[in-house]
Amino acid sequence: MEYDFDQIIERRGTCSLKWDRYAGADIIAMWVADMDFRSPPGVMEQLTDRIDHGVFGYTTAPKELNDVIVKRLQDKYGWQIEGDWIIWLGDLISALHLSCRVAAGDGDEIIIFSPVYPPFFTSPAKTQKLTSIPLRRQNDRCTFDLESFKNAITPKTKLLLLCNPHNPVGRVYDRDELDAVTDICMENNITICSDEMHCDLILDNKKHIPTATLSPQAAANSITLYSPGKTFNLAGLNCSMAIIPDDKLRNNFKKQRSGNVPWVNILGYAATLAAYRDSGQWNKELIEYLRRNRDIVEDFIAGTRQLSMDRIEATYLAWIDVSKLNLADPQAFFEKAGVGLSDGKDFGSGDHMRLNFGCPKQTLIKALERMKTAIKQTGR
Ligand SMILES: Cc1ncc(COP(=O)(O)O)c(C=O)c1O
Repeated sequence: MEYDFDQIIERRGTCSLKWDRYAGADIIAMWVADMDFRSPPGVMEQLTDRIDHGVFGYTTAPKELNDVIVKRLQDKYGWQIEGDWIIWLGDLISALHLSCRVAAGDGDEIIIFSPVYPPFFTSPAKTQKLTSIPLRRQNDRCTFDLESFKNAITPKTKLLLLCNPHNPVGRVYDRDELDAVTDICMENNITICSDEMHCDLILDNKKHIPTATLSPQAAANSITLYSPGKTFNLAGLNCSMAIIPDDKLRNNFKKQRSGNVPWVNILGYAATLAAYRDSGQWNKELIEYLRRNRDIVEDFIAGTRQLSMDRIEATYLAWIDVSKLNLADPQAFFEKAGVGLSDGKDFGSGDHMRLNFGCPKQTLIKALERMKTAIKQTGR
């Protein structure tokens, strides 16, 4: 390994959202989705160069950046895009909000599959209706409940907010699953906003399939969200994109963006360029490291009677069923044990907790040991 992911970097006292929640307490932060690793060296060099220039005015994307992304999506996912399909945005939460306003109007309906990343619930406008369809468990994995999906569709349904790979259940959806959902959308004139932010973090031997590659019709009716934020640990630098093949949809999206959401951060562009252009080996080694952490979490869960979990095919997020512990407040229980997890309630399932294993192995093992001791003490 060329890169050292074992190195423990102190984040307490650095205004880290994740760690400062527990300032002054002995609680290992494993909640919000950023990692405790340094970003790739190439990113740091590019940032240093930008800072040395010393002028931090409004900025546009470097021309080279769009070319780098076009090549990356072609090489990694066989998706041939045009550079000018890319719309730059500070963050993907804004992109979810914009998608709801561009693809659906007042009184229209938007569908999501839950549990899911909490802003999916809050992105529709107050004048729109959100319908949440629970994912169905089949053969120990979550998948789309197609019957419920079809039954939920009305003439007012205009948009599906899809998450693939899916935060928090860790699924990388197969082609037949995606085809089935997309076919239903196309038959009913439903646009798909496909949030593919976690697609460069596939841990299993599976291929990510961008929704827009499924058919020309899917491409023409999709907004794909993509960003280096999770993969290269750049969430604090605010640089993301929506990729929209259809001219009309793209122009409407641009109009909505204008004056409503912030510009991309100047350092975000610099970091994104270095991440996508220069940091392939780092990305590869990160995935190897995360895969081993995933295996540690899976072995730990398998060794308990009280916890269970499905396979994590992608992301650094473990979605753990804690219902057998029968706890009134699982988050408080684990915090008392010294581990800060995300509360499943926020994602739409109070039976689960989400554990972020994007951290050095030593930190992960310490947290799991604390969880084990606390579970034992319940006597359940
Ligand atoms: C699926 C998904 N979409 C969007 C986001 C938020 O992205 P951003 O930080 O660019 O707003 C996250 C963050 O965890 C996420 O998991």
